[in-house]
Amino acid sequence: MKGIILAGGKGTRLEPLTLPTNKHLLPVYDQPMIYYPIKTLVSAGIKDILVVTGDIHAGQFMYVLKNGKEFGINHLEYAYQVGGSKGIADALKYAEDFSDGEPIAVILGDNTTDADIAPAVAGFKDGATIFLKKVIDPERFGNPRFDPADPQKITGIIEKPKKAVSPYAVTGLYIYDATVFAKIKTLKPSHRGELEVTDINNAYLAEGKLHWSELKGYWSDAGTFQSLFRSNRYWARKKLGEQYD
Ligand code: G1P
Repeated sequence: MKGIILAGGKGTRLEPLTLPTNKHLLPVYDQPMIYYPIKTLVSAGIKDILVVTGDIHAGQFMYVLKNGKEFGINHLEYAYQVGGSKGIADALKYAEDFSDGEPIAVILGDNTTDADIAPAVAGFKDGATIFLKKVIDPERFGNPRFDPADPQKITGIIEKPKKAVSPYAVTGLYIYDATVFAKIKTLKPSHRGELEVTDINNAYLAEGKLHWSELKGYWSDAGTFQSLFRSNRYWARKKLGEQYD
């Protein structure tokens, strides 16, 4: 399986921190943020990785990651997303040639987790696998609705609902088969002008091909000051142990 890290966008919610650099290169405790999703993929045995980025700081990724060897990556490629922040699904379409018909593990560059996705990678057959996590603010994310008669069955995913329909966030880790690219081509921009990853997942759901599992361990995104701070605090505590003050 190949891996895709989505690290584009302007990071406007984190300005002025994102004026001098790309959001995914900001520190999370002692490392640039993108180190964490790289580790998640490499630990799951995924060593062919594409980083999709864009905008004025795109070149900094090559300086930081180089050819990826020091992270255990065999083969590292970069893609440049043209035209700014057009959404996660738009960024993913740049991975079509790279994925070359294979399944892909996709992770958003601002998602940090200590969960092990290796079993889900190893057990993947077809369709899509998404990873859910219980959070205190599910309305900030893709939010799954469950069948009242069958609590294991997702009946729809709502992107940032006004009122949450379950306590779960759809995290920014996804495994897709090669049909994802045909699905992206059918998408229309949402009200925020973006091609939404939630619409990809709902397309798999409509085919009866959406699988899910609950992410075991810590997970957070880091796209807002609060979540960036929370991620820094978690990883500092975890790495420092009793020395954390
Ligand atoms: C994006 C997705 C959302 C998902 C989240 C995970 O949100 O649109 O479905 O739950 O990533 O980090 P955004 O970062 O665009 O607010």
